[in-house]
Amino acid sequence: MLKLAGLDIGNDSVKLVVSGTNEPIIIPSVVSPGYERHVLQEEDSPLKALDVMVYSPKLKKKNQRYFVGMLASEDQDNAELEETDNKATSDQALIVALTALAYASVTGVAQTLQPGETVDQVEYVLGTGLPVRTYARYHQVLEERLVGEHEVTFLSTPKLRGRTVRVLIRRAIVSVEGAAALFHMATHENLQVRDEELYYGCIGVCEMGALTTDFPVVKRMSIDNQFSTGEQLGLASYLDGIIRDVEDQYGYRFASRTKLIQRIRRGEFLIQRVGEGQADIRPIVDTYFSRAAQKIVDLIRKRWKKYPDIQCFYVLGGGAAALRPYILDAAENMRLRFVEDSELQNVYGYLKMARSRTSNTEAI
Ligand SMILES: Nc1ncnc2c1ncn2[C@@H]1O[C@H](COP(=O)(O)OP(=O)(O)OP(=O)(O)O)[C@@H](O)[C@H]1O
Ligand SMILES: [Mg+2]
Repeated sequence: MLKLAGLDIGNDSVKLVVSGTNEPIIIPSVVSPGYERHVLQEEDSPLKALDVMVYSPKLKKKNQRYFVGMLASEDQDNAELEETDNKATSDQALIVALTALAYASVTGVAQTLQPGETVDQVEYVLGTGLPVRTYARYHQVLEERLVGEHEVTFLSTPKLRGRTVRVLIRRAIVSVEGAAALFHMATHENLQVRDEELYYGCIGVCEMGALTTDFPVVKRMSIDNQFSTGEQLGLASYLDGIIRDVEDQYGYRFASRTKLIQRIRRGEFLIQRVGEGQADIRPIVDTYFSRAAQKIVDLIRKRWKKYPDIQCFYVLGGGAAALRPYILDAAENMRLRFVEDSELQNVYGYLKMARSRTSNTEAI
């Protein structure tokens, strides 16, 4: 069966929505070398222990074992994506993406093997995206990397132990980060216009991710080639700064950015130091986040001045969710717009892009 899906290969997390299911699958973009682990108590969900063997002709190392996502974020040997990584060519990004696609197919509705079958098989038409500044040079590279036949075997993952999924990607439609988010906001599920101002207007977007911030300008749903731009800057470098300062001041080390942001999202700012003391990391977080917000506001102001035709500016991405109060503070009288679930707007947009390019009969 051919499925339509939106796949946001984020530097912080890979997000996947499959047509027909509403819940996005979110997997932190963290990978570590896999090994035979001692399981004392099985995790209560497969996502907490993605232990996989990935085969893909597009990977430099074939048939390697990896811990992916949450399981890897606990590991001291893990790798998160860095500024120098390019998601169109990064093996790590592809490993997490393929794991997500395989996982979605075995947890989706009514996925049962026929008698005699040992390998699950799933076919996808994917919508996905790249940052403004990477798009022109790399969209074809990404498309070629995704399209083809890959295989993922789940090893010690609870409920999925020993299952192999063949992931066939028929087509990949690559769009631009931030612009896809706007497409989602401007349209209904059936792709009809939902918001005329967004659909027909000239709209500025600031989409802040982990490593990049995109500033597409979209006019009547077309990307403006001249004014759209992007920065090699995201929330991650500020999170790294917080991790460093916390370690210097309190001798406490967060194993990964994922671990830190989990705490911040829950509003848990007290850390337990070795011994009995506790420390409040809130002042360090405030310092870095205010600095990040000021930088974003300055960049938006600069873009808006350069192109006054922009009717309104949307601040999106996980960065917007994390920095919202700080950005509102820094923006003073400049009015900026935010939306709920801003880190998921792209992935829903990618799914709609895939749908808009596929005839109704071809896929569901
Ligand atoms: N709801 C939220 N609240 C607070 N922080 C968030 C939220 N969602 C995401 N973040 C954080 O914001 C940052 C950017 O998240 P986002 O998911 O937009 O990045 P990404 O798409 O993976 O990265 P990139 O766009 O650079 O590839 C991350 O550090 C993430 O942990
Ligand atoms: Mg992103």
